Amino acid sequence: MYKLKIAIIAAALALFAAACGQTAAPTPNAPKNDNKAAASPAPTAAAPTPVDEAALGMKLYTTNCMTCHKDSGKGGKTTVDGKEIDPDDITTAKQKAKPDDKIYGYIADGFPDDGMPAFKDKLKPEEIKAIVKHVRTLQQ
Ligand code: HEC
Repeated sequence: MYKLKIAIIAAALALFAAACGQTAAPTPNAPKNDNKAAASPAPTAAAPTPVDEAALGMKLYTTNCMTCHKDSGKGGKTTVDGKEIDPDDITTAKQKAKPDDKIYGYIADGFPDDGMPAFKDKLKPEEIKAIVKHVRTLQQ
């Protein structure tokens, strides 16, 4: 009887081990699944979702551009730091027709002689891109 019990336990253990082996068996597949799982969240993590980028762009525009270009982007004469400047209307058809990298360049390099600071040392490329996106919405 004792031996039989041992045998049963051994069999149960063997079954358990086999079951474990089976759960471990899909391991060759697991990396595939893992890759799949890792591949889908990765783009969302790397590139902000459109909603995030729009929110970021609006926030950054508000803090960095609005004093001069107004919340509408229409600009107009204003005095900043005691200096009268005339920020452009950045919502015109002419500005709208310009490619993103051109607008990006304006923001990155600014127009130091005319009173617009360069933002390339202040903002990250993704942040400038988000602002360009926001400028596009102002141009709608
Ligand atoms: C301190 C004021 C000031 C701030 C802040 C400022 N700008 Fe400007 N911006 C100007 C002025 C002035 C001009 C006109 C430059 C010129 O006529 O040469 C200009 C020109 C531009 C132009 C080019 C328009 C054209 O004629 O081609 C764009 C686009 C622009 N700004 C976007 C932005 C964005 C986006 C921000 C925020 C990241 C920003 N500006 C922040 C003052 C400012």
